[in-house]
Amino acid sequence: MTIVTCIFLATLGLIFNPSSAQLSLDFYENSCTPLPDIVHDIMRATLNRNPRMGASILQLFFHDCFVNGCDASILLDDTDFFIGEKSTPPNKDSARGFELIDTIKSEVERFCPETVSCADILALAAREAVALLGGPFFEIGLGRRDSLVASFNSVAGQIPSPSFNLPQLIASFEAKGLDYRDLVILSGAHTIGRARCLRFRNHIYNDTNVDPDFADSVKVLCPINDNDDENLPLDFQTADLFDNLYYVNLINRRALLHSDQELYNYGTPVDRLVELYASDMDAFFGDFADSMVRMSSMNPLTGFRGEIRRDCRRVNFLG
Ligand code: HEM
Repeated sequence: MTIVTCIFLATLGLIFNPSSAQLSLDFYENSCTPLPDIVHDIMRATLNRNPRMGASILQLFFHDCFVNGCDASILLDDTDFFIGEKSTPPNKDSARGFELIDTIKSEVERFCPETVSCADILALAAREAVALLGGPFFEIGLGRRDSLVASFNSVAGQIPSPSFNLPQLIASFEAKGLDYRDLVILSGAHTIGRARCLRFRNHIYNDTNVDPDFADSVKVLCPINDNDDENLPLDFQTADLFDNLYYVNLINRRALLHSDQELYNYGTPVDRLVELYASDMDAFFGDFADSMVRMSSMNPLTGFRGEIRRDCRRVNFLG
């Protein structure tokens, strides 16, 4: 093989082999130096007013990554050509934070026009949300590009349901290249944020592995046939603080979601992990940071694939 052929094949590989183009910590070091500060400052100001928005951004990032990778496809509005992911259950009525991402993107565009992807902005905003609410700070690789389409059809079946049992939850994570440890660790994100009555009523009223006093207190706010959209804290002890009390709640059978309580129900190694994180916050923080980096690296668009959207809600050719 000649050297020219080798260079040609290597170039083709760079274009067509997604795994060859890697995310890097210093991707915008020269092209957009103020990026981390812009994201940090806007997130801090927002969470000071409304801490729940941190949870909403973290959930938005998870729902983006689990549907065809972390490519900002969840941010696209519906068009004449496709129905967006945000209009699809379980995102419809649940995914929040789109306006905040718009605000950050506008400010980033002012300093660094057409340079930073919406996918990277969402990843950085989620990272800031965790740290600003008291969780670990971690470095995150950058260089993702934005999808050209959203996938209404892909949402179904990709995002795990709160009615899933443990084997189903593990299978949904394994389908993304993550294992049962990632499942237990990333579910710890439910140390912050809220859920609506209609997502956990069945667990509270019908499951047997629920502390009766806890169930009674939830039933007052979520009557059997009313208040579907009432929001209750996923971690009733410290709703807006990123800590390890979520795992303590699981051990005490005080999880709001059926899927959360499934992580402490079978006497398997999964239970042992829950016990570890309930007793050791440093272990949880270290492992959460590692799992977030793994999730944030799932199937990114890099190199020449996708684009850098000017507006996170629409692809560039639509203006
Ligand atoms: C393991 C499977 C998971 C299931 C079944 C699940 C399910 C849910 C449900 C049902 C809600 C409430 C939605 C609503 O009422 O509208 C919720 C909220 C939330 N989820 Fe998950 N989730 C899972 C994993 C994750 C992961 C991996 C993360 C992030 C790393 C995450 C972050 C969040 C956050 C932060 C909220 C609160 C959002 C807010 O307050 O706006 N979840 N989740």
